[in-house]
Formats: sequence, structure tokens, C-alpha cells
Amino acid sequence: MTQEKQRLEVPEGLNEEYYQINPDILASFSKYRPPLNIFKFKEEVARVTPYYQVGQRLSNEQIEELADLVKEGLIFVSREDHPVYVKHISYQLDLVLVDKNLKESEVADIFVQALTMRLTDFLDQPVQAVFEKLQEDVMVLTQYLWQDIHKIRGLTRRLHREHSLSNHSFNSGIMGLALYAHMNDKAFAAGEIKRRTLDRLAVGMFIHDLGMTKIPIFIRKKDKPLTGDERTKMLQHPKLGYQMLSKLDLKFPEVEQCVLEHHERVDGKGYPQHSEMKDLGKYGRLCAVADAFSAMTAKRPYAPLKDPLTAAGELARDNGFDANATKALQAMVVTQKHWKAMAEDILKEQQQGKG
Ligand SMILES: [Fe+2]
Ligand SMILES: [Fe+2]
Repeated sequence: MTQEKQRLEVPEGLNEEYYQINPDILASFSKYRPPLNIFKFKEEVARVTPYYQVGQRLSNEQIEELADLVKEGLIFVSREDHPVYVKHISYQLDLVLVDKNLKESEVADIFVQALTMRLTDFLDQPVQAVFEKLQEDVMVLTQYLWQDIHKIRGLTRRLHREHSLSNHSFNSGIMGLALYAHMNDKAFAAGEIKRRTLDRLAVGMFIHDLGMTKIPIFIRKKDKPLTGDERTKMLQHPKLGYQMLSKLDLKFPEVEQCVLEHHERVDGKGYPQHSEMKDLGKYGRLCAVADAFSAMTAKRPYAPLKDPLTAAGELARDNGFDANATKALQAMVVTQKHWKAMAEDILKEQQQGKG
């Protein structure tokens, strides 16, 4: 048996241009035809040189050699191939937790791609098998956040602006988690939050609108006012979603509250049950705020989007929402710099659109 060679420590500067590939990442590539150019680090000259080009086919011997080189840490891909790499890794999201060369912004990009894709699949086909894929990826996210809950900030920088059911679901999930993190900062630091709670809350926030999948598409997509019957149908989506939870094995209060209560209002003017503050759960009240904020800050056919500062301000003045949650939301968007930049961006775009 040959002794295992030591893995190359990435020389300084190389990480700026290349990602080092580990065996897990290699295993996720197509074996004979990797999806992107591959480079090899030549120790003699301390330089990276081309090893494989997209379009070629690797022989069995080369595949073996490549696997050995990867083990030694000598194989890299170019950061110029970031879009391919991101797309590829988004299909096997757990790799982001093992790839130490990814920057925080790159990880955030990958989460956006992966979770939006899984949500699209699940909301097209809301069955157990498709849900499991989504759940696996949500668990990768919560594992990532468990290491440092403040990393959620990087994801709130990347919210979708165009409305679709999956974009809205993604945004609501991220906003719900960001708000929860903001409101429970001390409890997280003191280790008082259970991992299980974070996991279930994340799932609940992401799938809060699953009942919409039972509403006919022509009603969901309608850009004119709904008729009485259509509206009655639409207002059932929280209940319809709630009924779907047992088949998905999701009978947890965090998930149930998000799905059933996200359109309830603390003044009793919401739906479907016209519950009041005392009857609503804290996760339901939180989801209501995250959902409303996400709806207001995305472009819809019948309404222009509001910038995050305006939206948070309006919610804070609305008596239908839990004041603790809306105050926290407002504090969050006012104190974190990127929201202001986003607001300025939106205003500029709107002015240009009108001009
Ligand atoms: Fe909804
Ligand atoms: Fe929603």
C-alpha cells in the first residue's frame, strides 16, 4: 500500500482565481464529461495549467488519474466558470458545507438558485417525494445558519424582485428566518433556541402558501379583480394547505401556524378563521409579517413593488400585524445598510421607468 500523499495547501493568491475541487465535488460531476474546464496545479512550476476542456471525453485511465490528483488537492476549476459551478453545486447543495473555498457571497448565490429551484419543483408537484428534496436543501440552509445565524443577512441581499409563487415562497422563507433571527438574537447567542425549532420554522415559512397549488391557475394568475366565487376559492388556500400537511408528515406547530395563520390579522380582520391576537401562535404572526413584506416588495401585474423601507414602515403602522414583529422588521431594514441601497436602487429604476 502506498502512503497517502499530503493534500496540497492552496498557495496564496490561487483562491482568487480558482476553486480547489475535493472528491465530493468531483463525484458530483459527470464522470466522462465534466461540465466545466479543469486545471491542474503543477508543483514544479507553482502554476495552474489546463487539464481538461469541456467537450472532450475522459478515458478510464484519466478518470482514475483525476481522482488521485483531486485527493492530493491539485485540481482546480476557474472562478470564471462560477455560473456553471453554482448551477452544478445547487443540485447537490450539501457540498456548500464542505467546500471551504467558497466565499460567503458565492454560498448565498448557490442557496438562492438551489432553494428557488426546489420550491418551483415542489409547488408544481406538491407530493412527498418532491418535498423531500426541498426539505433536504432547507436542512442544508439551517445547518449553515446554525453555525452563525447572522449569515441570513447575505440571503436577504438576494431576494427576488419579480413575483411568482416560488419566488414569493423563497423571499418569505428568507424574511421569516431573518426576522426570527433578529428578534431572538440574544436567545441564539445564549444557546436557547432549539435546532428543531429553526428547522421546522424554516420549512413552514418556505411552504406557507402550499395551499395555492390547489387554486386553479387562471385564478392565481388573473390580473383583473376576482369575482365573488373566485375570491371565495382563493381565501381557502390556508385551509387547503393545512389539510395537505398530514400527507407530508408535517404536523408541527411551527409549520401549521405558518400555513394556516399567515393571512390572519391580530385585529381579527384576517382569514380564514378571523382569529384574534390571543388565538394566534407566534410563528403564525411572524409568518404574516414575512409574507406581507414579501408580497409588497415584489413586482406584481396589478401593483408596483414598494421599496423595503416604505413597506416596513407601512406594516409598522398597520394594526393588523403583531407590533413586536413589525417593529423588529423596521429596525432591521433601517439599521442594516444593504436595505437602504436596495431602496435607492428601486426608486432609481422606477424614476427611469416613468421618465
Ligand atoms: Fe397566502
Ligand atoms: Fe404568501
